[in-house]
Parts: sequence; C-alpha cells; structure tokens
Amino acid sequence: MIVYKSEEEILVMKKSNQIVAKILSELKKMIRPGIQTKELEQYAEKRAREMGAVPAFKGYRGYPASLCTSINEEIVHGIPSSRKLRERDIISLDFGIVYNGFYGDAAVTYPVGEVDAHAEKLILTAEKAFFHGIKQFKEGNRISDISYAIQMYVESQGFSVIRSFVGHGIGFSLHEEPQVPNFGFPGHGPKIKPGLVLAIEPMIALKDWRVEILKDNWTAVTKDRSLSAHFEHTVALTRNGLEILSHLEDEEVLESLKGSQHA
Ligand code: MF3
Ligand code: CO
Repeated sequence: MIVYKSEEEILVMKKSNQIVAKILSELKKMIRPGIQTKELEQYAEKRAREMGAVPAFKGYRGYPASLCTSINEEIVHGIPSSRKLRERDIISLDFGIVYNGFYGDAAVTYPVGEVDAHAEKLILTAEKAFFHGIKQFKEGNRISDISYAIQMYVESQGFSVIRSFVGHGIGFSLHEEPQVPNFGFPGHGPKIKPGLVLAIEPMIALKDWRVEILKDNWTAVTKDRSLSAHFEHTVALTRNGLEILSHLEDEEVLESLKGSQHA
C-alpha cells in the first residue's frame, strides 16, 4: 500500500531531509586521502543527534552503522571501518535519519583528490541519471517511466545500472511502497500523483551490473570489481509540482530547524 503524504507532512519531511543534506555537505569537506571511513561515521552520527534526529540505518535489519561508506567497486552498504581513503578512490556516502517521525534519505558519490576521467564521468552520470529520472516524476506518469529514463540515459553513456537495489517510497518508514527500480520498460507500476514521496537512487557501474555481497553480509560490490557510483535524493510531488526535499537549502531554512522540535 502506498501512503500518500499531506502538504504538512511533506513540510516536516523537508526538515528531515535538510538535516541529511546538511550532514552530507559537511562530510564532503572531510573527504581527503588518509581519513578513515569510521571518522565520517562518527561525525555523521554526532551531527544528526545534535540536530535532534536519530540515524535511521543503525540497527535497520541489523546494519551495524549510521552511514554507508562504499568505496570504488563497492556499490552500497559499505560499513565504515579503519580503512583509509586514498587519492584516486571514489566514495559513496549514503545517510538516513528520522526526525519528528519522518525519514530522510540521500546519497552522493565523491572523488578523493584527483580521480581518473572515467571515474569522474561515472560519478557525473549517476547524478545526471537521477535528474533524467525525476523529469518523469509527474502526475499521470507511472513509476517505471522513471526507471526507464534512468536506464536509457546510463546505458547511452556506456555504463550499466544495478538491478539488485531499488529506490523506494519513504516517509513514516525508511522503505515504503512503491519500489523504484533503475531499469525497466516504461508504462508500468503505480500512477504518480500528488502526495507521493520517493527516494530515487540510481546505482551504476562502469562495466557489468552483476552484484556480489561480501563476507560481512552487507557490502555489495560489482562482481567484476568495476567502479560503481550512487546518487540519491528524497523527492516529493506536491500540488505545486516536484520538490527535491534533500537538496540543501540556504542557511536561513536550516536556522528555522533549530528552534522547532515539532513542525
Ligand atoms: N539508501 C539505502 C536504502 O534506501 C540505505 C539503506 S542502508 C541500511 O536502501 F543499512 F539501512 F540498509
Ligand atoms: Co534509499
């Protein structure tokens, strides 16, 4: 069952997602060769709590951390550790929180120092794929129109889309219906209408899309160990159109977060 959100609920979700966006932007400044991924984890968790939010991933189906840090061929669910980032790595950060009962979820891939041109292009393609996807997030379209647009764009760039992980509805829970695959034929799935809030999250690979899960039972890597990038935003369709809730707004909006525990 899809749970549609009221305009008021979407307003609170905006706040949850602004917290996620703010923390991801702060983490970006910490990315450099030599930093351990667990330092990013500790920072993200501390900042979330300072802002009155609770990390959403920790304990979710037993996931052991608040942040996912996925390096190079790691696609998603990389577990923060004492591993140090190195020049030329790429790292995907995926972060989610719950604030005043509403979930926020976003992910981004960053280069560590200077990276190869193909890594640069892979990162940019994941981000652009998201934007091709949300162009289809409009009333009257169906969910798989988003999926199709993402797949077509990514493949036109010579890359592949990961099949085993999907975007999702979000709000009262981290994962709600509907599922939003990053591949498929257009014209299928539920019809899109106002009140729908989705986490749209293309995950793409330089070469083959097949996935393997490492022995830690979490880290998903490409089977051929080719590079992978991830880009995710929580987006809402309101009566006034599309809104990217996890796109970082200016400081003024963030200021208003501080005083208001209840929206
Ligand atoms: N953004 C990812 C998702 O929506 C992160 C989930 S991480 C988990 O699936 F560890 F909590 F599973
Ligand atoms: Co998600």
